[in-house]
Amino acid sequence: MLTQTARTLARRAFQAQGARALSSAELKFQAPKKPNIHHFKIYRWDPDQNQKPYVSTYPVDMNDCGPMVLDALIKIKNEQDSTVTFRRSCREGICGSCAMNIDGGNTLACLKEVEGDTTKVYPLPHMYVVKDLVPDMSNFYDQYKSIKPWLQQKGPTDPSPKEENKQSIEDRKKLDGMYECILCACCSTSCPSYWWNSDRYLGPAVLMQAFRWIDDSRDEFTKERLEDLDDAFKLYRCHTIMNCTKTCPKHLNPGKAIAHIKKKIATMH
Ligand code: SF4
Ligand code: SF4
Ligand code: FES
Repeated sequence: MLTQTARTLARRAFQAQGARALSSAELKFQAPKKPNIHHFKIYRWDPDQNQKPYVSTYPVDMNDCGPMVLDALIKIKNEQDSTVTFRRSCREGICGSCAMNIDGGNTLACLKEVEGDTTKVYPLPHMYVVKDLVPDMSNFYDQYKSIKPWLQQKGPTDPSPKEENKQSIEDRKKLDGMYECILCACCSTSCPSYWWNSDRYLGPAVLMQAFRWIDDSRDEFTKERLEDLDDAFKLYRCHTIMNCTKTCPKHLNPGKAIAHIKKKIATMH
């Protein structure tokens, strides 16, 4: 709110310049906003510095910042501290690279709105850290590769096929809710079983992708895929705690996909 004196001074300044006097509504529109300071507490660790991890706090005026946590991180990096390190690319929930732990939950920084007075930002939990908010995804990607995430068919592949590899509308529909996964790893890194056994348990993200190919009507290696997963560690470390489904920023249900794999294996025996 402008005080009466400020309003009068502004009007006089405009009148002195020969401009018309501003209405109260115009003055209100032009009035500088009261700062809306939000504090971001960010986990910091640099392998090149001989220092233990610590938390840095950065004040950001949210009047001058986009609404999402990623907007604030970019603003902090641009204006306050260029050493703050994080991954991002699409800024619209498609690339999966800005996955991090925000106020205790795994999510995508570009889809998470800034709320309250303070936000705590940490890397995805139980992952090795490369620097600050950047986790080492090597094990996660190796596990993804291990499930052969591509269409496999028996017999020689025709190098110039004359027909598309067709699928009925019903069969195509079975892939809904799985193909949308952006491999952000929010689910796997929220799973207690994955925290303790990530060397051998595949985790919800990779298991859902395994099921995405198991359930694909065009794939001819269903039996082999199921046999490969029938393992005390790869699959059966899942104890249906469902943290995975709760945390998925794309609202997918990896817990359900895991249950489907277990059921298919049970009927196979
Ligand atoms: S259901 Fe629970 S144990 Fe299974 S993958 Fe999800 S979080 Fe992990
Ligand atoms: S299932 Fe959801 S949380 Fe898990 S990797 Fe895919 S998009 Fe991310
Ligand atoms: S920047 Fe791509 S998902 Fe957030």
